[in-house]
Amino acid sequence: MSTERGEFSSRIGFVMAAAGSAIGLGNIWGFPGQAAQNGGAAFVVVYIILSFIVAYPVFMAELTIGRYSQSNIVGAFNIIEGGKKFKFVGYMGVLAASLIYGFYAVIAGWMLSYVFNAIFTIMGFNEIAQWCIDSSSLLRNISFMGVFGLLTMYIITGGVKNGIEKWSARLMPALIIILIAMIIYVSLQEGAMKGLAFYLSPDFSKIGDGKLILSALGQAFFSLSLGVGTMLVYGSYIRKNENLPVIGALVTLADVGIAFMAGFLIIPAMFVAQASGVEIYAADGSLIAGANIVFQVLPELFDSLGAVGPFFALIFFALMTIAALTSSISMLEVPVAYAVDDLKLNRKKATFIFGFTIMAISVVLIMYMDVLFGLVVSIATQWLQPIIGLLLCIFIGWVMNRNQVLGELKQGYPEVENSFFYKIWPWFVRVICPVLILLIFYTTLFG
Ligand code: PHE
Repeated sequence: MSTERGEFSSRIGFVMAAAGSAIGLGNIWGFPGQAAQNGGAAFVVVYIILSFIVAYPVFMAELTIGRYSQSNIVGAFNIIEGGKKFKFVGYMGVLAASLIYGFYAVIAGWMLSYVFNAIFTIMGFNEIAQWCIDSSSLLRNISFMGVFGLLTMYIITGGVKNGIEKWSARLMPALIIILIAMIIYVSLQEGAMKGLAFYLSPDFSKIGDGKLILSALGQAFFSLSLGVGTMLVYGSYIRKNENLPVIGALVTLADVGIAFMAGFLIIPAMFVAQASGVEIYAADGSLIAGANIVFQVLPELFDSLGAVGPFFALIFFALMTIAALTSSISMLEVPVAYAVDDLKLNRKKATFIFGFTIMAISVVLIMYMDVLFGLVVSIATQWLQPIIGLLLCIFIGWVMNRNQVLGELKQGYPEVENSFFYKIWPWFVRVICPVLILLIFYTTLFG
């Protein structure tokens, strides 16, 4: 193998990096928002079930293919016998990762812009603070996206150990501390209990709803960073003596756990905002959702806090930016690893080429926000991710030789053949996951 590839230095290094990828805006903002819209705890229950029965098996498929091939999502199909026909899946993965990075950097740029808004407000520079959050300014949108993109590229040029692993290990603990501190603060405020009651009382009438299930599946795939080749390439950097099913389960638990925890911050915070006079219901009577939670309700809440408001805003948006950064590096790593492994570029060059090309995509998304943004998000996350996940299941379940798969798992887990995991996982990737994914597509299209 080329020495350019790199490897995580330890188990904890991998867990931090993979959890850093998984835990992102999808957990802290997407999940609570979806739960608020889709019947509170009913959505939470469906999401948790799908995370373990569909997302975890697909996650394991990616880790196993990655570590076995010691390659990226395109290269893996060159290396594994029978893979040639599946090479298009690899290119789809690179495309999906690039599109997701393209829109994610725009949103992350907004988070960063609120960090600067808070800093300038604290310093008393109100005019420039206001410019930072002027959503109609093209220059503002492009500059903050650009700064975020450069940060991502900087980390990726550092490589696996000194870039991805080092920064994930620094930023993830900070993220968890900020999250817990904010949950404690918010739950002591007036209105928080109402939010908790809303979050934890399920509206089971919504549970059979096809849309709820598709949203929960999409959320689970997005949240675990599946179906784009991120986890596959991270898998290729794990040492051979690590137990894949166990570390996969740890990362899944961390991802689901943080999403669930973020619900204890965002939903009560909305009701705290309401108690201080902020409108949290839209004109049609439904709870405000999507971008408006983060960029309208919460800033109004921070404003209502008076002098300490900007400090809370700073901490909250720093949390969002950190979460976004440890995820965005894992997105950019997909095309970069492909370029390093297969196109034989050096890492710096690969990072510059793909980093700036995708930045151009982000600029286009900013300029044609109304027509393109939602479309690209839904193509990448609702279609490409689950379809690629499905194809990876079929590949590992039906095309890859059983002994190759078993042999790979055995490397860090010699008794795997007799484990509960190995009794059921092969059937999940062969039959249950593909059927469930297809069924969920079917109900959305025709149900
Ligand atoms: N899992 C990340 C989040 O929850 C998003 C992501 C998707 C990261 C795909 C990498 C690849 O925000």
